[in-house]
Amino acid sequence: MKDQGGTTGEAAGPALTDVLDGIPAGILVVDRRGNIIAINNLLAEWLGIDAREARGRHFRELPCEKGDGGQNNPLLLTLKTGQEFNCVKHTSRFSVSIRALRNARGEITGAMAVFQDTGYCRELEQAVIKAERLAILGQLCAITMHEIKNPLAAVRGYLQLFKKELRDSPRAGRVDTMLAAVDRINTIITDFLRLARPAVPRRKSCSLRAVIGSAIKLIEGEAKHRGIRVAFSCEGELPAVMLDEEQFHQVLLNVFKNACEAMPDGGEITVRAVAERDTALFRIEVEDTGPGMAEDLCHRAFEPFFTTKENGTGLGLYISRLIVKNHGGDMKIENNPNRGCKVVIFLPQANSLVDQGLA
Ligand SMILES: Nc1ncnc2c1ncn2[C@@H]1O[C@H](COP(=O)(O)OP(=O)(O)O)[C@@H](O)[C@H]1O
Ligand SMILES: [Mg+2]
Repeated sequence: MKDQGGTTGEAAGPALTDVLDGIPAGILVVDRRGNIIAINNLLAEWLGIDAREARGRHFRELPCEKGDGGQNNPLLLTLKTGQEFNCVKHTSRFSVSIRALRNARGEITGAMAVFQDTGYCRELEQAVIKAERLAILGQLCAITMHEIKNPLAAVRGYLQLFKKELRDSPRAGRVDTMLAAVDRINTIITDFLRLARPAVPRRKSCSLRAVIGSAIKLIEGEAKHRGIRVAFSCEGELPAVMLDEEQFHQVLLNVFKNACEAMPDGGEITVRAVAERDTALFRIEVEDTGPGMAEDLCHRAFEPFFTTKENGTGLGLYISRLIVKNHGGDMKIENNPNRGCKVVIFLPQANSLVDQGLA
């Protein structure tokens, strides 16, 4: 306890007070007479006192000890008898655990009390219970959604048959409407299931250039049809990267789809990829020439179920960021309301391999 004043002098490493202040609990250390040797900042803050002023005073002067003058005070009992206490209620706010401190001969030299803010613990406990309930609810929803998918596939199959049978009838349009509705339910379920069970990425070494290229190929047809031109450029060499290709494809498709949806009258999607040296990140930009996003919506775009589209699910960007984060990266939106929307994906290069001619 000699260095409890916090002066490190020429000694290297943290002082004991720094250690005590780093503990997320209230700590009180007293000598065998009950005089305070150390009190950490958290406990001082909880009690509304100055930690330095408290040192040297008797612990009974602390606000939390006043009014409990009896001999049954747990800290006094510990100092007298060595009895230890585990998480006993201490005032309406705290619970306390107390240990006797002994010298090499086993004699009591003092005691240490660890205080927990039970209000905080109760909140934490309730948060855990709530999270568990939500997890169960999530699982039930996922099972239900999965069960809906099979009969829905049957409905879709029969609707397609009807569509063929009604080909020349004016009622054929109604079947198309029904098919579109079924497809929409399917999209919602698929997105939801991906959300409920974000798979652990199965990474393997791939070429970022090739993954981006093949995702662009998938949308190119549809994009062209809508009058959208897609340009892709890589700055310098891209080292091979450890990726779950299928999941990352999904991310790119979600972003490309959003870009296409933002430009119903055509436009341009520019994809750029660069391995940044200073940040050790891959930076993949997808920029469109649509209307962009209002500044205050930029951060909301990643919230689950946030959508401004009549038929949107609001899960595309949320799931995409989840996937990218599972890869140790992140996503953000750099917006310029007059120049469209730029979605940026960051991936760590730490897992990348030395370019083996894959890129
Ligand atoms: N390229 C973009 N341009 C403008 N707004 C966009 C773009 N990408 C996403 N957004 C906004 O972010 C919202 C959330 O996107 P997303 O999570 O993919 O869900 P959804 O596409 O189903 O609406 C969209 O509804 C839209 O308002
Ligand atoms: Mg989307």
